Amino acid sequence: MTAGVGIPVGASGGAVRLEPMRWWHVEAVAALEASIFDESPWSLEQFYAELAAPGRWLQVVVPDGDARSGSVLGYVDVAVAAPDADLMTIAIAPEVRGGGVGRWLLGQAMGAALAAGARTMFLEVRSDNPALNLYLSQSFEPLDVRRDYYGSGIDAVVMRRRLTLEQAPANVMPAVSS
Ligand SMILES: CC(C)(COP(=O)(O)OP(=O)(O)OC[C@H]1O[C@@H](n2cnc3c(N)ncnc32)[C@H](O)[C@@H]1OP(=O)(O)O)[C@@H](O)C(=O)NCCC(=O)NCCS
Repeated sequence: MTAGVGIPVGASGGAVRLEPMRWWHVEAVAALEASIFDESPWSLEQFYAELAAPGRWLQVVVPDGDARSGSVLGYVDVAVAAPDADLMTIAIAPEVRGGGVGRWLLGQAMGAALAAGARTMFLEVRSDNPALNLYLSQSFEPLDVRRDYYGSGIDAVVMRRRLTLEQAPANVMPAVSS
């Protein structure tokens, strides 16, 4: 399934859309992951394991109208076990950050989880990660703090947000494997 939703990508002037993550995306996804996360990036094997796991909504962000470029500009992984959903990971390539794609992708993930029966979404984020601002702006609330989980002074923040039909973003076509 393709979300079929194109949105502007800030200064680059391009547009992006979602595609379900498939095995042929994994190399590019893992390379992007390794370039983004200095500490403990997910390996190729971890992404393949996520692809094989039940109840996952795994999508890649690709340039709109450029089906064969092979470019991956972001990805998201949501694990749904209704009524709960876990945002396993979300990332946007540095060159397209700051243009609203991350917020859009999170909205799509929440909508997909909702459509798959989830009513609450959980996530965990480092206390020093600017992504915390994104989650707060999208009504996620801190639920628990694991002090020094990532080292001295760097906590793990567990966040939660209720998902309601009224808040469902438009244009969501979920593809959660079972
Ligand atoms: C988090 C991430 C997905 C956001 O993607 P993005 O496309 O840049 O996000 P947006 O442009 O939609 O920004 C949405 C909001 O996020 C927050 N935000 C994003 N980057 C930020 C930064 N560097 N500093 C402060 N706030 C930031 C802001 O609240 C922003 O809203 P605003 O522009 O209205 O102020 C992206 O920065 C990323 O991939 N980071 C590395 C991977 C990562 O840490 N993922 C989260 C793991 S828990």
